[in-house]
Amino acid sequence: MKDIYILGIESSCDETSFSIVKNGVEEIATVISSQIDIHKLYGGVVPEIASRAHIRNITFVLEECLTKAHMTIDNIDAIAVTYGPGLIGSLLVGVECAKTLAFLYQKPLIPVHHISGHIYANNLEKRLNFPLIALVISGGHTELIYMDKDYSFKKIGATLDDAVGECYDKVGRVIGVEYPGGPVLDKLATLGKHTYNLPIPLNDGTYNFSFSGLKSAVINLANQEEKRGHKINQEDLAKSFQDVVIESLTTKTMKALKEYKVSNLILAGGVAANKGIRSKFQQVCEENNINYTFPSIKYSTDNAAMIASSGYYAYLLGRRADLTLNPTSSCELK
Ligand code: KG4
Ligand code: ZN
Repeated sequence: MKDIYILGIESSCDETSFSIVKNGVEEIATVISSQIDIHKLYGGVVPEIASRAHIRNITFVLEECLTKAHMTIDNIDAIAVTYGPGLIGSLLVGVECAKTLAFLYQKPLIPVHHISGHIYANNLEKRLNFPLIALVISGGHTELIYMDKDYSFKKIGATLDDAVGECYDKVGRVIGVEYPGGPVLDKLATLGKHTYNLPIPLNDGTYNFSFSGLKSAVINLANQEEKRGHKINQEDLAKSFQDVVIESLTTKTMKALKEYKVSNLILAGGVAANKGIRSKFQQVCEENNINYTFPSIKYSTDNAAMIASSGYYAYLLGRRADLTLNPTSSCELK
């Protein structure tokens, strides 16, 4: 079979990224331009600033990716782009770029759901094994997805309120660490002890999650300590918080694997970069004979390689968009 090269484009939040992936598994070149240093100044992503930065960067990132791959658009078989969910102004930049390239070079245009991209990030190092359960944990999502083949997504649980990454970032802000709080709390947790008593979120029999109560508990605790003139111990709070998050994620996920009789688990999304979460899953998966995969750090947070990988399987299934493709800030994974 002829090799298929997909050009992936990702611009749904604050990373402008292009990647070329061969046959869905082999990364040829990826370039990611992150805006974190700009948004740090504001304590979070500012949508208007994000779209403008995408516009400033996008052509240079494309050029750098092609140069790195020693390829031109003529070598590309199809263009895969994130069409949602995400920040609408940011998505528009990537989608418009993809449509322009598809039109100019007469290439097929493949619409890719951002979460499908996060799931297929695991495919870049090892072909996905079905049936599987994906635990998607990112800044905007916390979901359990069952898949018995490529592009068959069955959502079996989700957060009822905040996403886990959003909760990390908000807790980070409350205890005074810079944006994004997730990676900082992850590091602090390795130095701390579990000394603060926090509630295990939504400790019920369902596959759903809830993190807003936990976030409020941390805010209340920080306020009370301040009133008493006590200083929060950042390391201990990070450790106490992370332990509770891990307990919630592992309990629900292991229950789903058991009840669905599935022995393959993958982690997906930016929070999958968390060392504490990765290693706890490693331990419980070993104890329960579960094949466990997580993306390498560079593929955990937003990148276009995952979009190109997911786009390859969409391409094989004949999924195409035309030049009327419109991004959408929220859309179901299908
Ligand atoms: O997947 P992603 O890059 O963007 C979305 O699709 O949302 O995820 C970003 C999220 C942020 O909330 C960030 O704080 C979190 O992933 N994150 C982490 C870690 N690295 C990134 N959270 C916990 N521990 C980490 N090491
Ligand atoms: Zn993401």
